[in-house]
Amino acid sequence: MAVPAVIAHLAQAWSDYYDDHTLVSVTVLFGHIAGLLLAGGTALAADRLILDAARGDETLRAVCLARLPGVHRMVAFGLALVVVSGALMTFSDLNAFLASGVFYLKGAFFVLLILNGFVLLGGERGARLGDGARGWQRLRASAIASSVLWLATAFIGVLLTKAA
Ligand code: HEM
Repeated sequence: MAVPAVIAHLAQAWSDYYDDHTLVSVTVLFGHIAGLLLAGGTALAADRLILDAARGDETLRAVCLARLPGVHRMVAFGLALVVVSGALMTFSDLNAFLASGVFYLKGAFFVLLILNGFVLLGGERGARLGDGARGWQRLRASAIASSVLWLATAFIGVLLTKAA
């Protein structure tokens, strides 16, 4: 994939700086891992709460719906960290990642994860607006998909460290 000369020039300058400053590369990778812990950890715990609430009573469902806005804020913050640190790592070796099929596979799973997040938000809206049964069905299905997609993307993320 041909990269515009100005991008290639900036990426090379960042790559040299990234390779010459261990504290920078360590901090960027830490940012990626910390983002995964904050977003992925919160998402997996919320997926479990949603599955319990979907088969639980009205009290548990009310607790679950009350907790979800805070969950979304933490997941959004963590994902922002993941994307910024991921972009910085991508530009640290741009040609290698752009030539790696695993990088595009990871991008596809990341997009699926985000799209599933919107399905989950839709299910939550339905559950709040009294379309209970269908809303909770969508919440339950998207919570299962969320857990699978988080773990699959993490696996592909590790695979990328060996592939690129
Ligand atoms: C939910 C989303 C994501 C997950 C679960 C994830 C997971 C991971 C994991 C587990 C690693 C290995 C870290 C290590 O070296 O120990 C990694 C590395 C990496 N990730 Fe992500 N990541 C995600 C999103 C992204 C995004 C959006 C980008 C690009 C914008 C990205 C780019 C990278 C790069 C470039 C590496 C380094 C690979 C290397 O060192 O060879 N990641 N990711």
